[in-house]
Amino acid sequence: MHAHTSSDVLVVGGGIIGLVTAWRSAQRGLRTAVADPEPGGGAAQVAAGMLAAVTELHHGEQLLLGLNLESARRYPAFAAELTEASGQDIGYRACGTLAVALDADDRAQLRDLHALQLRSGLDSAWLTGRECRRLEPMLAPGVRGGLRVDGDHQVDPRRLAKALVTACERAGVVFHRGWAERLTVLRDRATGAVLADGTALTAGQVVLAAGSLSGRLAGVPAEVLPPVRPVKGQVLRLTVPPGYAPFLSRTVRAVVRGSHLYLVPRENGELVVGATSEELGWDTTVTAGGVYELLRDAHELVPGVTELRFTETCAGLRPTSPDNAPLLGPTALPGLHLATGHFRNGVLLTPVTGDAMADLLADGALPPEARPFTPRRFPPVRHPPVRQEQSA
Ligand code: GLY
Repeated sequence: MHAHTSSDVLVVGGGIIGLVTAWRSAQRGLRTAVADPEPGGGAAQVAAGMLAAVTELHHGEQLLLGLNLESARRYPAFAAELTEASGQDIGYRACGTLAVALDADDRAQLRDLHALQLRSGLDSAWLTGRECRRLEPMLAPGVRGGLRVDGDHQVDPRRLAKALVTACERAGVVFHRGWAERLTVLRDRATGAVLADGTALTAGQVVLAAGSLSGRLAGVPAEVLPPVRPVKGQVLRLTVPPGYAPFLSRTVRAVVRGSHLYLVPRENGELVVGATSEELGWDTTVTAGGVYELLRDAHELVPGVTELRFTETCAGLRPTSPDNAPLLGPTALPGLHLATGHFRNGVLLTPVTGDAMADLLADGALPPEARPFTPRRFPPVRHPPVRQEQSA
């Protein structure tokens, strides 16, 4: 067998979670390979990049909150290290977030979120509508109140993915540009994977980090298949023309008649508007209805958006677990680990996931903060057959 088809660690999936795992693994001295036809692709190409541990808090997700906050805390050092390792800026911006409400029901929902944030010991300040507009003058006069959260920042996921590919290459990670079609199992142990072109890759440890597709790898015994399903998100990209007055100075989120909306302004003028949340299986169609609803709500929130250049629409799939938290760590099959199911928080959880998986791969154990997210917390599931391939 050719030497480069064998490694200590094989990561199946080269999205941001697979890449950070590979980068950290290589840094720990492990010979590491990644199998993916297009490393750096996947959901990060669609994601807005909010690091929204506080403003995206939901009831019942207190345990996940701890992991989210830990990863947010690591972001400044992670961004600096990755920038140094790749020679690329990843667009980390400590700009804070303003979450606003437009009508009485939206305000009630935001008040409920504020109460949950305060009970959870988080920093979040209630502002009147006028105070919100003082911070962000482009907001509609109808804004009724909001939450100022100075600790929720942003990063550019496309730059993050590109920088991780470069950092991996520089750390000696080997890329196999093909689909992993089948896990190989020998004497009740995962030993590698076979690519679509028949190339057999062997490894001491395999990490399944294939996002929404993680539950679809042939050869994985049914009892350890991750219970991950896709949740579709449609996103728009607009551009603030050069020379235009500052449009938004921070991430703005809103509940608009019950629909969640966010506007994420980048320093280069890009404004990301998201996102739908649709349980439609593997469908990644951008629909007229999805675009209409995002633009309608964005216009109601910030009427000036209609002046901006319309740049792009896209749709991606959030890899979602039954409790919305990731699956991190060993499975019941020796040699097979999971790093998937990050749902709405993949970009945020990138630093802590990389660190945790590297500890597991190099030292044999997850650090304490990652242990509650063991894949073994779920009973085995059966997946229905795939109807359509993921295209984004
Ligand atoms: N975290 C943003 C989203 O999932 O849409």
